[in-house]
Parts: sequence; structure tokens; C-alpha cells
Amino acid sequence: MSRSALPSAVRLDAQQAYACWAPTYDETPNPLLALEERSLAPMMSSFFAKYVVELGCGTGRWLRRLEKAGLESLAGVDISDAMLAEAKRKCLPSTSLVHSDCMAIPLPAHAVDCVLASFLLSYVQDLRNFAEEVARILRPGGTIIVSDLHPNTTSYGWRRTFSAAGSLFEIATFRYTLPDLINTMSVAGCALEAMDELNFGEEEAVIFRQNDMIDHFHRVESLPVIYWAKFSLRES
Ligand SMILES: C[S@@+](CC[C@H](N)C(=O)[O-])C[C@H]1O[C@@H](n2cnc3c(N)ncnc32)[C@H](O)[C@@H]1O
Repeated sequence: MSRSALPSAVRLDAQQAYACWAPTYDETPNPLLALEERSLAPMMSSFFAKYVVELGCGTGRWLRRLEKAGLESLAGVDISDAMLAEAKRKCLPSTSLVHSDCMAIPLPAHAVDCVLASFLLSYVQDLRNFAEEVARILRPGGTIIVSDLHPNTTSYGWRRTFSAAGSLFEIATFRYTLPDLINTMSVAGCALEAMDELNFGEEEAVIFRQNDMIDHFHRVESLPVIYWAKFSLRES
């Protein structure tokens, strides 16, 4: 969970960070993931897709849900061997797990119906390269759903941190505004269909209470903490 006024932390890039965090990533109570899941789950189960690829799939939080959606093909792509090893323990053997940077995805052009990128974009160094890769692997008319920490959270003093082996670590991130994202996706051929900026609700207050952080909840409850956006690849 991100917090303000933290003591100094060891700064890592995403690859180093997820190598350390992978064994305990799923154990960390995370109201941001809870908020994202309750917002996106209805949409994820209601659209038609045969082949879904999750970029930055991590330990397989969404893959395990998508395995129940009756897809023809499901794949997760991640740059971290350690996160993929956790995903492998949890996912079905039929789910492909691919070790790759999402800047050069080892999939053929126009093969995929839906791409999901959940809490990935903050670690993507080159948004334009990301958008072009997504547009390359999507079939015309295909969908991409992106979610991430809201760019405004930097102004709340939030940093991307985690604890492992008794130390605090901070992950290096890149900040993109929502217009940056929409414009970059549009230039790559992906038109915005829907988006939302979300605040924590009572469901997440429970997690804050359980972790003795309800004051933190009250400081941000009126502010957007995550966003999601759905794009489709233009047909022509
Ligand atoms: C915050 S985790 C999110 C994991 C999963 N999507 C979820 O929401 O539970 C971010 C993931 O993105 C992966 N990642 C970061 N940079 C990446 C890149 N350039 N290409 C592919 N994966 C990347 C990390 O290894 C990590 O597993």
C-alpha cells in the first residue's frame, strides 16, 4: 500500500522490485487492487473475446479470474521471472505465461481480441512504444483495458513502496496524465470508449480498518485513487 511521510526507502527499478516482492505480493492487503477488481470485474465478464492477453500479469490475479470466462486462449506476459513463477503455481496449465518486456511482445500481429494492462503503465518507460505494441497485436476492433494508480496520487505524496525482509523499498515509476494516455493511444489507432476515475468506498474502508489505517482512508476518500480506460483498435 502506498503511504505518505515514509522513512527513506531503497529505490529499485520495476524488474529488481518485483524480483524481491514476488513471494509476498499476494499476501499484502491492497485496497487499490480491491477497488480495481470490483470496478472492472463486471466489464471483464460481459464482453466477448476469444483470445485475451494480460500484459504485466504479475502473479496471475486477473488470469485466474479470466480462466473462468470460457476463453479459447489466455496468456499472461511479464518481465519478472519471479512474478511469473508465482503465476505458474496458481494458473491452469492451459494459460500461457510468457517472459517478455511489453515493449516487444513475442506475439504475431492482429492476433488478440482483448489486451488487459492492470497496474502496469506506471512502470512503462515509453508510452508510445507500449501503445504501438498493443495496436500491433490487437485485431481491428479489438479492445484494450488499462487500469492504474491515478496520476493525481503523486500530489497526495504517494510513493510506490513495499516491505520485504524487514526493509522498505520504493519502485521507480513514470507518470502519465490521462490526456497523455488518451492522446498516445489515439495516435496508435486506439479510440477511447469509456473511462472512470475512482475513489475508495466502504468496501475498501474495511481493509484500511483491518490494517489500522482508517485515518489514511479518510484523508483520501473524496479523491480519485485509480482510473481505468477502455479503448478499441480502429478498424481502418
Ligand atoms: C503492480 S504489478 C501488477 C500485476 C498484475 N497486473 C496485478 O494487477 O495484480 C506490475 C507488474 O508489471 C510487470 N512489469 C513491469 N514492467 C514491465 C514491462 N516493461 N513489461 C512487462 N511486464 C512489466 C512487473 O514485473 C509486475 O509483475
